[in-house]
Amino acid sequence: MRKTEKMTTQEIEKLFLNTYQRYPFLVKKAEGAFIYSKNRKYLDMISGIGVMSLGHSDKDVKKEVLKQLKLHMHLSNLFWQKSQIEFAKEFISTLKGKYRIFLSNSGAEAVETAIKIAKLPFDEKRRKFLAFFGSFHGRTHGALSLTWKEDFRKPFEPLMPGVKFVPYGDIDAVYNELKKLEFAGVIVEPIQGEAGVITPPQGFLKNLKSACEETGTLLILDEIQTGAGKTGKFWCFEWENIEPDILVSSKAIGGGLPLGVTAVSDKIAELIKPGMHASTFGGNPLSCSAGKITIRKIKKMLKSVLKKGETLKKEIENIGFEVSGKGLMLGIIIGKISKEPREINEFFLNEGVIINTIKTPTEEIRIRILPPFIISEREISIFINVLKKFKKSL
Ligand SMILES: Cc1ncc(COP(=O)(O)O)c(C=O)c1O
Repeated sequence: MRKTEKMTTQEIEKLFLNTYQRYPFLVKKAEGAFIYSKNRKYLDMISGIGVMSLGHSDKDVKKEVLKQLKLHMHLSNLFWQKSQIEFAKEFISTLKGKYRIFLSNSGAEAVETAIKIAKLPFDEKRRKFLAFFGSFHGRTHGALSLTWKEDFRKPFEPLMPGVKFVPYGDIDAVYNELKKLEFAGVIVEPIQGEAGVITPPQGFLKNLKSACEETGTLLILDEIQTGAGKTGKFWCFEWENIEPDILVSSKAIGGGLPLGVTAVSDKIAELIKPGMHASTFGGNPLSCSAGKITIRKIKKMLKSVLKKGETLKKEIENIGFEVSGKGLMLGIIIGKISKEPREINEFFLNEGVIINTIKTPTEEIRIRILPPFIISEREISIFINVLKKFKKSL
């Protein structure tokens, strides 16, 4: 039994619902690409699951948050707030089309908001949603209904009715469903993160956009994981030169503080009236001030995300693994092996590296890495050396 401060792990476990498999150490601090326990430092190759893209404890984010802290904390959404206005301007400046935003606190909440808003243009005969095999959109009731993995959904059924799943990347299957004119929206991740960094065929998003336009269905892009620069463009959909009707963002957009954003194109935004939706903490001033500076900084880092992504990809391929994903959102394809994801995570943890191993919908093992954009050459080589060691252990 390990001791964490004065309590045993077992005592600590009794304080919380047993929802997470946590690492067996207590964090002392986190800085740059590293997380520190009392005795050791760990290279965080998943950046707090895709949140800390600027690295841990970014100085500019901290400065901005402290500045805001001196002015005020929560006020409520009954007030116009400079931090929200500045964040909104910065966020909307990343998009070509005309959008308005709703601010919440997490990815799942941003998805819930999207589900409600997407229903508004349609009557009750057209309120189904199309989602994809392998999809992950969150754990709240609505978002979970759009999430593919049966293990996640089964214990909580019945969930939201009217959700149909089709194979990811299969545009014919999409057309077959959408032509029935029963769907309000299609929700899709441009790259599926939780499923193991699964990339759809080239042109899929563009075809999806056309299918939505032809059938009058709304395209909802979930860029909670892919967005805010991870793939080397601010939004992953920019790779296919399209724009969604509704965009959901969270994770890195708040620079380490909780923030969810649902961006809605102007023509749908007009349907929203006061009282239709709300969130007490949505758009917290500290999160908005962190988010504003984060967007400004990420915009300047996109080229380096691509360059570092290319370096990493080449080095991983040199070891003999294929790589999926784009920029600094990468999947290392290990294939079908007898090791469980947990064993692989432990192997890396023992070597001082934090990664995330996933069994894909086709039972293949992939290591997901979402390194911080500030990762240095030296830190990349630390990871590569451990990956080499892992390869030898197979
Ligand atoms: C694509 C995607 N959508 C939604 C979510 C849910 O976000 P949250 O955990 O903030 O509710 C996640 C989280 O991993 C995600 O990756």
